[in-house]
Amino acid sequence: MSTPLYILVTGATGFIGAHVVDELLRRGHRVRAATRSLPKGELMKISRPQYAARLDIVQVRDFSASASFTDAVQGVDGIIHVASPFTYTTTDNEKELVKPAIAGVKSVLDAAAQEGKVKRVVITSSFAAVLDVGRTAPPRFAYTSEDWNPLTYEEAVAKDTSAVVAYRGSKKFAELAAWEFVRERKPGFDVVTLCPPMTFGPIAHPVERLADLNESNAMLWAVASGKEMPVARVPFWVDVRDLAVAHVEALVRADAGGKRFVVASPEKFSYGLVKRFVEEQFEWGRERVAQGEQEVDDGYDLDGERAGRELGVGYRGFRETVRDFVEQAVKMEGREKS
Ligand SMILES: NC(=O)c1ccc[n+]([C@@H]2O[C@H](COP(=O)([O-])OP(=O)(O)OC[C@H]3O[C@@H](n4cnc5c(N)ncnc54)[C@H](OP(=O)(O)O)[C@@H]3O)[C@@H](O)[C@H]2O)c1
Repeated sequence: MSTPLYILVTGATGFIGAHVVDELLRRGHRVRAATRSLPKGELMKISRPQYAARLDIVQVRDFSASASFTDAVQGVDGIIHVASPFTYTTTDNEKELVKPAIAGVKSVLDAAAQEGKVKRVVITSSFAAVLDVGRTAPPRFAYTSEDWNPLTYEEAVAKDTSAVVAYRGSKKFAELAAWEFVRERKPGFDVVTLCPPMTFGPIAHPVERLADLNESNAMLWAVASGKEMPVARVPFWVDVRDLAVAHVEALVRADAGGKRFVVASPEKFSYGLVKRFVEEQFEWGRERVAQGEQEVDDGYDLDGERAGRELGVGYRGFRETVRDFVEQAVKMEGREKS
């Protein structure tokens, strides 16, 4: 496989997508950034003047409104499909989470199959598609990329299901749709899926107010700003910058084709650890951080080492990730107040 050079990134104006865009641009690729919001796309472009010649923006519709990628894929030879609804504030889980996640994957792959140049599609799935909440330690066990969340579609969309459970279903069924597409349609490209757990780190996408932070970083900020100590549903995490490297390596490494990877730091986290790192690294920390303690759940593991080895990703430490994000969030807060 020759290295794809012109890459369509969906979800480019989101938390993870913007870092993927930056990693591609840093390495000399040409990028087409897909977004639902042209003003947000333009903000991305304006804030990267050094890359203006290699970054173009394309508007796509919401996945719940029959989005088509036919125009967006024209001329590209690789795709990184990051976009998918990630929110726990919903009124209709099937309509807002599950169906659009699946529709997004299908429309990207459909369009890619029509654009003969596309060689590879990398898809951001999630550890949510791997997690089996019924599997508990002891005895100790380790999740790998072989594992699948056992939720049925009916369970994921049941009216009494929480948005957290529906989100897990959205990621599972969207990823399954991708593997099924490859099996049945045998397109001229291969697919790689990445299943990261909680993803934290500094933001590179346009965010006007701290209230608009993406779900995962909003949890870090809740601890740092003294709002609350959220529940850590899993002790696994990855830094967004390492995850961006994993996406680009998954795109360019010939032998990654057809594989599924869990991309995760070997170090575990808890929100209690966030509290401790904020207290240790910021003068104001002790007075401000959320009340309460939370131990790291060290009863089971997730094998992120295979992805580290096969994709050549080195994982940052949690202390650095917390520091870099909180430093940035405090500056944003200062600007909001002034
Ligand atoms: N953050 C984590 O902890 C984490 C962990 C594992 C996997 N993931 C996965 O990573 C991907 C990106 O998440 P993120 O953390 O970067 O969240 P995010 O900042 O909320 O980004 C989500 C992106 O998806 C797009 N999107 C959301 N709903 C959409 C819809 N209905 N139709 C079209 N586009 C839609 C958004 O587009 P606009 O920019 O146009 O609004 C945004 O760019 C998702 O697939 C998520 O499931 C995230």
